[in-house]
Amino acid sequence: MPVFFSMTTQSSKPMNTMTRLIATSFLTAILSGCGGPDDFTPTENMTAADIYNGACQACHGANGGGKFGFLFQIAGTESSMEEIAGLLKDGGHIMPSFPNLSDEERMIMAAYIKAL
Ligand code: HEC
Repeated sequence: MPVFFSMTTQSSKPMNTMTRLIATSFLTAILSGCGGPDDFTPTENMTAADIYNGACQACHGANGGGKFGFLFQIAGTESSMEEIAGLLKDGGHIMPSFPNLSDEERMIMAAYIKAL
């Protein structure tokens, strides 16, 4: 369980500069050439897996295993459903927020992540 991923918006632990630098350059690599994941808007009949594949997989990889190995791994997270839903609503240090997901969809996604 990498320390990096136990940090949520509520965390009091500051991200160290090197982690921030590494994370930022990964983010830049991910986001270049695409619209930005916070634009993601689910359509009517999307399942949690569809939303995951559309909005999350780019960073967190297939099944939450992390796109870049351990760095963005979320499978097995120790965060609670409420913490995850809050992260999706407000965004993280680097993770974008998902304002177009409803509260219910954020809880569904939290449950989906917890089950990975
Ligand atoms: C642009 C890359 C990116 C996208 C897209 C993204 N995340 Fe994240 N996610 C991160 C980063 C970076 C973190 C580390 C925490 C932070 O940024 O504050 C994180 C952290 C998390 C965590 C916390 C893990 C823990 O152990 O505390 C969860 C859960 C999570 N993301 C779920 C999602 C879900 C669900 C989606 C899709 C709706 C998503 N992420 C989309 C980059 C992303």
